[in-house]
Amino acid sequence: MDYDVKDIKSAKEGALRIEWANQNMSVLNRIRKRFEKQTPLKGIRISACLHVTTETASLMQTLKAGGAEVCLCASNPLSTQDDVAASLVKHDRISVFAIKGEDHKTYYRHIYAVLDSRPQFTMDDGADLVSTLHSERSELLSGVRGGTEETTTGIIRLRSMAADGVLQYPIIAVNDAQTKHFFDNRYGTGQSTIDGIIRATNRLVAGSNFVVCGYGWCGRGLAMRARGMGANVIVTEVDPLPALEAVMDGFTVMPIHRAARIGDFFCTLTGNINVIRKEHFQVMKDGAMVSNSGHFNVELDLEGLKKISKSRRVIRPFVEEYRLKNGRRINVLGEGRLINLAAAEGHPSSVMDMSFANQALSIEYMVKLKKPLEKNV
Ligand code: ADE
Repeated sequence: MDYDVKDIKSAKEGALRIEWANQNMSVLNRIRKRFEKQTPLKGIRISACLHVTTETASLMQTLKAGGAEVCLCASNPLSTQDDVAASLVKHDRISVFAIKGEDHKTYYRHIYAVLDSRPQFTMDDGADLVSTLHSERSELLSGVRGGTEETTTGIIRLRSMAADGVLQYPIIAVNDAQTKHFFDNRYGTGQSTIDGIIRATNRLVAGSNFVVCGYGWCGRGLAMRARGMGANVIVTEVDPLPALEAVMDGFTVMPIHRAARIGDFFCTLTGNINVIRKEHFQVMKDGAMVSNSGHFNVELDLEGLKKISKSRRVIRPFVEEYRLKNGRRINVLGEGRLINLAAAEGHPSSVMDMSFANQALSIEYMVKLKKPLEKNV
């Protein structure tokens, strides 16, 4: 058994935190009990690329209880809970390759490490594992029977691979389950994003102008929770239909170039790139707090921000203060990576319970299939 974690000695704390999450994951626990009896995944090799959290640990334990050989790497360089990674290695004998804050090279070294176990199934969050498998380890593709994808962004990438005729095995889009996006994306992201922003800044939300960029399921959740904290919530949305929905939900809706001038907090949750750009940073108020809760760190144009800045420094954990040439300060939270997992602990266990039950059942479904699914999402 191979692994790469930060500190194996932190396993004990990780085990307690996993136990705490498990207390609130009744659906997955029922599946686990059945898996223990029936071992439907006996001898099946699964490579997972997920946020390494207490809830993910519970999913890994469930797959193992079903008889699978699992190995796990991180789906984001900043979302790993190091004590959880250590506990999975020490107490569950699961190969984990994940260290919070790992650099780009290490992130991909860890993806290669889980692919080295020659997966029959992949479990992905964001599609980095599947795209690396197709582009750099294509000799392994013939042994892969299927996969699952957790998140909106990953599904968009995989659908585009399928449309181009590139995707070489079937993927179940877990995010499309109603018991996933109705709850995880909305209530999970809503709460955990507010949690991350508050833990990073310790600033008062009440009375602030809180700009939510994107009104998909995640944006809806955050807008609802920011309003609950007493903020004046402003929504920006390029698609007219959800923009109209935001109006009728009672939010102020305007383009980002106008919102940029008045916001105190900004958070992007769009799945798009360069949502907040140089020209927007240029007109922000002194001390604005800017964050992202979308899957990839491409929603904030930090290269553009660097160009108009004269200096930057880390002023407190997860807060980097950029001093602009115009004298104002812009605070970027969590390096522009998902703030709910970088500065907080991700979605609470009761919503991840439903998402990860879908993951476990999807794998079981594919293992039991007599006739393979088509190479599609
Ligand atoms: N994505 C968002 N929150 C998460 C969590 N707690 N565990 C795994 N993936 C997540």
